[in-house]
Amino acid sequence: MMGSSLPRLEALDLRNNRFFGDIPSTFNNCMSLVLLNLEGNNFSGGIQTWMPQDISILKLRSNQFTGNIPPQLCCLLNLTILDLANNEFSGSIPHCLHNATSLPSFTNVLPGPVSNHFFTTAKDFMKIDLHTKGQQLEYGKTLKLVRSIDLSANKLSGGIPVQLFKLTELQSLNLSYNYLIGEIPEQIGEMKDLESLDLSHNNLHGNIPQSMSGLSFLDVLNLSYNHFSGQIPLGTQLQSFDAWSYAGNPDLCGPPLQKHCTIPDNTEKVEENEDDGFMKSLYLGMGVGFAVGFWVVCGSLVLNRAWRHSYFRFFNGVVDRIYVIVAIKLQKFR
Ligand SMILES: *[C@@H]1O[C@H](CO)[C@@H](O)[C@H](O)[C@H]1NC(C)=O
Ligand SMILES: *[C@@H]1O[C@H](CO)[C@@H](O)[C@H](O)[C@H]1NC(C)=O
Ligand SMILES: *[C@@H]1O[C@H](CO)[C@@H](O)[C@H](O)[C@H]1NC(C)=O
Repeated sequence: MMGSSLPRLEALDLRNNRFFGDIPSTFNNCMSLVLLNLEGNNFSGGIQTWMPQDISILKLRSNQFTGNIPPQLCCLLNLTILDLANNEFSGSIPHCLHNATSLPSFTNVLPGPVSNHFFTTAKDFMKIDLHTKGQQLEYGKTLKLVRSIDLSANKLSGGIPVQLFKLTELQSLNLSYNYLIGEIPEQIGEMKDLESLDLSHNNLHGNIPQSMSGLSFLDVLNLSYNHFSGQIPLGTQLQSFDAWSYAGNPDLCGPPLQKHCTIPDNTEKVEENEDDGFMKSLYLGMGVGFAVGFWVVCGSLVLNRAWRHSYFRFFNGVVDRIYVIVAIKLQKFR
């Protein structure tokens, strides 16, 4: 069946059946395929030989696919939703993947000629379940605005290509349950549209970049069960997530985790220095205040004759009066 040539087929949805076996390379003849959903079958083998070039939505989730994620995937310039979750893919994430999905920017590609045509003809009947934000959400007409990559629950290893963090229009990224290593780069702060990020259950390490606190649309975050360390960057964004978002990283500290960041010696010094600085500026302020006050009073007395005279007259008057009062009191006392 899947070997047959259907050059004008645009959408193929075989999800949740019991199909099995390899996808034959003649599948390539389905030139116009824009949506392919094979989720929840028992397909196996590699995927490198049969990628339809115009594909925009590729869902191979929950099958038995094996082998690498082929670099050919990077040539799929219309790709907006890539879901390879829950298979047996191994090896590393291709470095060029951002070519396929970011494309200088997604918007240049979608609506492109093919996908535009597809979405105008098929959008009325087409609905697709997307796994994002820990849920399965049905998308219909808004589908063409969605940008999502899900490679979770495979056997992927190596680092996350830094280019992947330059997909500024990506809304959902799930790389959880793999064997990925390395750090989250500071560039992640550029993924301004990111709503859901799940990197849990990998071997990632390093600090959580400060730039992540600028991801204002981020709604679901899961960094749990890695080897992240240091303080969770402060700012409203990252503290608003549940502690479960950070669980299983023993060296991570600071709110919303219970664990306080034990202040190493150098930070203590920084605090001391801050105190020193405060006292210094206090003394400095007092000194300046005194000097200003002194010169405002005495300076004007020196400079202004009339003021000087009235000041001393007033002063003498006060002294005289005090003297008289004290003398009278003393007399009475005696
Ligand atoms: C899927 O295929 C594997 C072998 O490749 C087999 O052991 C398993 O029973 C199949 N599962 C289903 C649900 O057909
Ligand atoms: C990411 O994928 C895993 C495994 O496929 C799933 O359990 C989890 O809910 C997903 N996370 C999000 C935020 O959707
Ligand atoms: C993150 O993933 C872990 C393990 O899969 C889970 O226990 C936790 O509830 C998740 N956190 C959130 C905020 O979804």
